Amino acid sequence: MYQTVKGTYDLLEKDMARFNMLEDLFRHFLSLYGYAEIKTPVFEYTGVFQKENDTSDMVTKEMYTFSPNGKDSLTLRPEGTAGVIRSFVENKMYARPELPVKLGYIEEMFRHERPQKGRQRQFTQMGIECLGEKDPLIDAEVIALGYTYIRTLGLESVKVLINSLGDAESRLRYRERLTEYFAPHKEELCIDCQNRLEKNPLRILDCKIDRGSELVANAPKMELTEGSQKYFDDVKHYLDLLGIPYEIDDRLVRGLDYYTDTVFEVVSTNEASGSQATIFGGGRYDDLVKEMGGPQMSGIGFAIGVERLMILAEAEGIFEEYAPELDCYVINLNPEPDYAFAIAEELRNNSFTTEMDYYGRSLKAQFRSSERKNTRFVLIIGEDEVREDTVTIKDTLTKAQETLKKEELVERLDQLLEDYYE
Ligand code: HAM
Repeated sequence: MYQTVKGTYDLLEKDMARFNMLEDLFRHFLSLYGYAEIKTPVFEYTGVFQKENDTSDMVTKEMYTFSPNGKDSLTLRPEGTAGVIRSFVENKMYARPELPVKLGYIEEMFRHERPQKGRQRQFTQMGIECLGEKDPLIDAEVIALGYTYIRTLGLESVKVLINSLGDAESRLRYRERLTEYFAPHKEELCIDCQNRLEKNPLRILDCKIDRGSELVANAPKMELTEGSQKYFDDVKHYLDLLGIPYEIDDRLVRGLDYYTDTVFEVVSTNEASGSQATIFGGGRYDDLVKEMGGPQMSGIGFAIGVERLMILAEAEGIFEEYAPELDCYVINLNPEPDYAFAIAEELRNNSFTTEMDYYGRSLKAQFRSSERKNTRFVLIIGEDEVREDTVTIKDTLTKAQETLKKEELVERLDQLLEDYYE
């Protein structure tokens, strides 16, 4: 028997409908805030993701890298930001008269992580990147988009964590202080952190192994330069203005190397989320566009993990209200399907979702099918209906039943729907 590869999964019909619902609402939010969707390739040259001195687990351990011709090194994208920025630079979007350029994406990502609930090797991110301008208003707006999306879905048990990693000067000073602090205790750190100590000691604060230790808990805190502190204060001011609740988490450094100034995560406080509680995360990056060959231009974005969102949405029961409904089910009680078959097609041509029985089953069996499919109108085609060119409609909500001429059917169904929703 063939099976899915470890860390991957099928989305069956019900899950797919839920996925689509989450994605449709996200697309609506993209347009509300002026973002346009793009799609970048599933694989890129490895250099798009891997920069010199990268220390993140994602880049150093988790990438699916391959070389089909023994020459080029290609990688399945582990995240969306790098590909979007490659595209921003390659397509010279930085030269557009209107900045910032606001891009959204819904894409599959691939990371070779140890699979567990909420952590797969193939997963989906819904993300945005706002490129070309740096302003605290933009940071607050980006967080607002993500938070309002989550709240509009109806999710209650989430909180927003924010922090600032400061500008280059703040980080350089902080790196020095952390190196000084950790260096005498090098042996107490895990092997990866011993390596990080040289390359990027900030990442020690985020290490899955060392994070809980007393050594890390007592590490010095970041001191921002005046400019970065003012920037962060402004972001907080605009979040307050919009009524977005947040907590400041001075240990939040995020798992990727490219962040500067504002970083944030939205985490679930629902225990169903287990250890993978970060629903989405993001932040500002001042240098990535330049590093990828563009001008010195800042950007900010986030990505929501759709599978993690699904786990939380399911736990909070938000999908129950979204049971799909079939408009019409055509019950045929004649040996010949022709009359019923043509009616079903006419209904679809008039935008009613419609199904019918193909097998000439009993009335009871067909009714049962219509119930299972959560049908609003059951249309019954018996011998009389065929002879008299009529249709019998049963409204499953009001329980009313009526027989009318076939030509009047579409208009009558429209009217019944209109009356009901008035
Ligand atoms: P990230 O924190 O690595 O950030 O991933 C964002 C979200 O993707 C996570 O919060 C999580 O919900 C989901 N995610 C990550 N890995 C997995 C996995 N193995 N299985 C399931 N879900 C996962 C980024 O990727 C950045 N590119 C976000 C960003 C955009 N920053 C700026 N712009």
